[in-house]
Amino acid sequence: MLQSRRQILGQLAGAAAAAPALARPLQARLEPTPNEIVGPFYPLAKPADTDADLTMVAGRTGRAIGQVIEISGQIMDLRGRPVPGTRLEIWQANAAGRYAHPSDDNPAPLDPNFQGYASLSTDADGRYRIITVKPAGYPGGRRGMRAPHIHFDLAGRTDRLVVQMYFPDEPLNATDALLRANIRPAMVIAATTGADASGILRYRWDMVLRTG
Ligand SMILES: [Fe+2]
Repeated sequence: MLQSRRQILGQLAGAAAAAPALARPLQARLEPTPNEIVGPFYPLAKPADTDADLTMVAGRTGRAIGQVIEISGQIMDLRGRPVPGTRLEIWQANAAGRYAHPSDDNPAPLDPNFQGYASLSTDADGRYRIITVKPAGYPGGRRGMRAPHIHFDLAGRTDRLVVQMYFPDEPLNATDALLRANIRPAMVIAATTGADASGILRYRWDMVLRTG
């Protein structure tokens, strides 16, 4: 039996009304997290312990000096789809603003209990989580004082992203030369999500790869 034009239009309208719930995540168009430079302090020699808790070094009993923080988030592509199995390398200065790197001439002390580097992968939902201490800012030579930040190097299925994560409400954010030059600064500043019962400050930071 031939359908009337009215019936067909009615079916199309019904399909259109039902479609957005399924189609919306695939149609979402996110902005990519902007790339930054690797910088001078990517570790020359990686520590033996590279797990996701940077506040403890395997074989030692002490804990890193500084405010303990948790950073978690999700890696997505431009359509908002999670990217499982993304490899993350993370490195940062310690709570005094010093990297465990021979090129760092900052006289601030090293912390033997701070791991300073981690290597991990996102889970099936594209999520990651690390425990670390909040890094201090440090003198950045001719760039001036660097705001506190943590370096991330991501390897997804097809994309690589090198980026620095900054902290909200940091006075040095206003003058940090690299953050001021960033084309999407809001995308590289983490969101605070409060503190847990043990005083660990929590931050959320998602990153967007172009193709995943
Ligand atoms: Fe840095």
